[in-house]
Amino acid sequence: MKRDVTITINGVEYSGNIPIRMLLVDFIRDVAGLTGTHVGCTFEGQCGACTIHLNGEAVKSCLLLAVQCHGKEITTVEGLAREGALHVLQEEFHRHHALQCGYCTSGMLMNAAEFITERPDADDEEIRHALVGNICRCTGYTNIIKAISAAAKRNASV
Ligand code: FES
Ligand code: FES
Repeated sequence: MKRDVTITINGVEYSGNIPIRMLLVDFIRDVAGLTGTHVGCTFEGQCGACTIHLNGEAVKSCLLLAVQCHGKEITTVEGLAREGALHVLQEEFHRHHALQCGYCTSGMLMNAAEFITERPDADDEEIRHALVGNICRCTGYTNIIKAISAAAKRNASV
């Protein structure tokens, strides 16, 4: 069974006549062609690589059906930078060498972007806890924590 679905992603409307069982992450990657959102755990909600913002809230896009998001607005990692300027988290990930292969990075950024907005005063332990749903197999997390902490401090001082 198929259904017409329209979702606004990074301010652009994408529409498709899609199977009702299509996951949101597949709509993002295959219908919208935005491949910055990754799949790391074959749709089990474990790794966080597919994290996006749905109406401003960080969610795992492998745990939602695209039809559930009809008429809604989402932001993917491609929408983090604005008007040619990197998001403060992207700058700090670069500055602190907070990635290696980069597979987890888009999900880390999207989760952290919501977190530092809500908790600009978070300490390292709280940041570490906030990343419990985002797995990185390369970095050991140390530089990711440093980058998020630096971005949170910059956000708080604006
Ligand atoms: S692909 Fe969604 S949490 Fe792993
Ligand atoms: S940088 Fe490779 S999985 Fe995180």
